[in-house]
Amino acid sequence: MQKIRAAITGTALYLPDYVLTNDELSTMMDTTDEWIMTRIGVRERRIARDPGMVASDMGSIAVKRLLDKLGVTPDQVDALICTTSTPDYVFPSTATVIAEKCGIKNAFAFDLKAACSGFVFALETVAGLIQLDKYKRIIIVSSEKMSWMTDYTDRSTAPIFGDGASAVMIEPSEEYGVIDSVLRSDGIGLTYLHMKGGGVVNPSSYETVDAKMHYIYQDGKVVFKHAVAAMADVAEYVIERNGLKSDDVDWVVPHQANVRIIDATAKRIGLPYEKVMINIDRVGNTSSASIPICLAEWEDKLKKGDNLILAAFGAGFTWGAVYLKWAYDGKKQ
Ligand code: UT7
Repeated sequence: MQKIRAAITGTALYLPDYVLTNDELSTMMDTTDEWIMTRIGVRERRIARDPGMVASDMGSIAVKRLLDKLGVTPDQVDALICTTSTPDYVFPSTATVIAEKCGIKNAFAFDLKAACSGFVFALETVAGLIQLDKYKRIIIVSSEKMSWMTDYTDRSTAPIFGDGASAVMIEPSEEYGVIDSVLRSDGIGLTYLHMKGGGVVNPSSYETVDAKMHYIYQDGKVVFKHAVAAMADVAEYVIERNGLKSDDVDWVVPHQANVRIIDATAKRIGLPYEKVMINIDRVGNTSSASIPICLAEWEDKLKKGDNLILAAFGAGFTWGAVYLKWAYDGKKQ
């Protein structure tokens, strides 16, 4: 019997309208467009300025667009997984809120948390679910309101992040979909990248807010070093394990953390820049949404049978790469 693979059969995204440029950031902190472009590669990012626009809103817009585009009704969806580091609530899951907003009642929904690696971890999870041969349509929606936990007086983090959401439909296929993957995590990452306050260790209080513990904390240099090594390692590993030559790879879809990290990954696996999806200049680092936002933006260019390598790195640390055969010609929808 043929293996049942998890194939992406559609994508849709939502990006907030507000464009926060480096020039505007320079009025808020001591920075310049030149520094940010050289060291990070972000020129502008989208921000959901309305406090009422939360992860479930952005995510449900992306999911509704996906259903409309594919002509799928909410009751035809079997499961919905949301990846986010900016959930609406500690509980219940943002996935259940999104399912409710989209009228998805005939399914189970849950959040999967792996920071910026959330999408590739979710894809691996769905690949396992699809092999059970019980589920016909599973949605992964990645929605991140990074501005919520960004300190706009901190020049070492604020230029990096942006907001956005993207959703993909996953269906069984014998020919296309997830072929292989390698995922890893290492808890040493906690020290270098986390939100100190708001959890059980440091519950929110006047003190934690005064100490700005509700914002992203990172030791950028350490994170950078780990990200460069880890993303390139797993991408190279998955390419070699599947006997792919660089010519066989049609697209690399890296997590958009920093353009220098993307460059280093592309160089290590010997792939020309034209084959690397890069939108960090326009949308910044949208954490787990960054890979599916790229897939949605590049959808028109993708062809049935294209070999894609997705590679991510995030807090935890978590990281991983997925080798995926694209299932449809982008222009079909
Ligand atoms: O998705 C995973 C999440 N995080 C990441 O992927 C982040 C990974 N790390 C990075 O991307 C980089 O480490 C940063 C972009 C955060 C920082 O770049 P860097 O090249 O490592 O800079 P640095 O922290 O070593 O700072 C170099 C200098 C410092 O000044 P001095 O001490 O040399 O005088 C900083 O104060 O640049 C200064 N600096 C800035 N200057 C202008 C730091 N941020 C800024 C800024 N504008 N925004």
